[in-house]
Amino acid sequence: MTTSSGDPRSLLAQLIDPAHRADPYPVYRKIRELGPVSMPENNLTLFSSFVHCEEVLRHPSASSDRIKSTVGQRMIFGPPSFLFLDPPDHTRLRRLVNKAFVPKVVKALEPDIAALVDGLLRDAESTSEPFEAISGLAYPLPVAVICRLLGVPLADEPEFSAASALLAQSLDPFISATGISVAGAADGGFEKRQQAGLWLRDYLRELIARRRRDPGDDLMSGLIHVEESGDHLTEEEIVATCNLLLIAGHETTVGLISNAILALLRDPEQWAKLAADPARASAVIEETLRYDPPVQLLRRIAGADMAIESLTIPKGDNMLLLLAAAHRDPDAFDNPDRFDPDRATTRHLAFGKGPHFCVGAPLARLEATVALTALTARFPHAALADIPTYKENVTLRGMSSLPIALSGPRS
Ligand code: HEM
Repeated sequence: MTTSSGDPRSLLAQLIDPAHRADPYPVYRKIRELGPVSMPENNLTLFSSFVHCEEVLRHPSASSDRIKSTVGQRMIFGPPSFLFLDPPDHTRLRRLVNKAFVPKVVKALEPDIAALVDGLLRDAESTSEPFEAISGLAYPLPVAVICRLLGVPLADEPEFSAASALLAQSLDPFISATGISVAGAADGGFEKRQQAGLWLRDYLRELIARRRRDPGDDLMSGLIHVEESGDHLTEEEIVATCNLLLIAGHETTVGLISNAILALLRDPEQWAKLAADPARASAVIEETLRYDPPVQLLRRIAGADMAIESLTIPKGDNMLLLLAAAHRDPDAFDNPDRFDPDRATTRHLAFGKGPHFCVGAPLARLEATVALTALTARFPHAALADIPTYKENVTLRGMSSLPIALSGPRS
């Protein structure tokens, strides 16, 4: 393999490099232009076109179970959640959780979500500008909602959010585990992530014990008492499921809300249009999910030898699906680098596809709808106050700060 700038290894290194976090899309384009890339020395294949990413996600031999990977995995945080399981365990556990997130049940949360957003925006009005949209809205909203749903005390947020942030990073070192790493990128800190994983499981185990004694109307109590087809969840399955929901529920929706705010602020006409017409929220949200997806890539393992186009992926090899590259694929979208909520095609893979399609999609869409319509309506002249900054995460890429001038640009 060559080491030119078109070399997949050097392009992956660029993707991991924090210097490219604010705008990784030129790197994604270069990778996509290579077509599917086989890296046998790393037991890895990269897919970056829309059609290939979708085909792998739907492929019956594409596994989410990391134990099936030939590249060693240190299983450090206890038994995996159903995100990392294949049928039949995946099907059984997912079915139990899915009921709590179907659109009808989620819709009933709207008044609570609206009240939370209203409170946050009232605080925004009363504090001095600029308004920090991550810590002031995009982050506290999904955290409060998932805590309420699961029955996790919001007062414990400072502790579990630190653990959750560290665990979100553990989706990244896989890239460096393939031998591709960059100085300065978050590929160290294994011990810290292990500690965080163990701490969070112990914390949840304690909460579960409390709920066993004193059940509430929350999802955690529901999982404890669930009985479907005569099937009980084991203690460790409940812990792993709550762990997944707590992390997935608050490390992703913050990205959707903040990426949408940023895209709208960079196109003031779009901000004004949404402020005037809340019915545009759905188009804005779907376009944000395409244009700047909170989950930038997914991993799959070949559960059997697989053929995708002309490539054979040997059993046990890893596949990286670069969703963020697929979403800018000119074969799938006209003018893909343009943020355009009015485009005719709104399909995307931001919530995945196939058996692992995001359980929380209806909730994430509702939270984003309420937050964006309220923010634009209340502050129709808002403007970007400063350049946003980004966290180091590659997979769950997102901003760490997004300062807004609520009353509009300073003249
Ligand atoms: C904008 C916000 C969100 C995005 C972009 C997102 C994205 C995703 C993606 C891409 C997957 C598929 C992973 C894979 O195929 O390997 C997924 C799965 C999942 N998501 Fe989300 N998610 C979001 C919000 C949420 C929320 C709010 C919750 C829960 C409260 C949630 C819970 C889950 C769960 C439990 C799974 C595992 C599904 C399975 O393995 O069957 N997500 N999500």
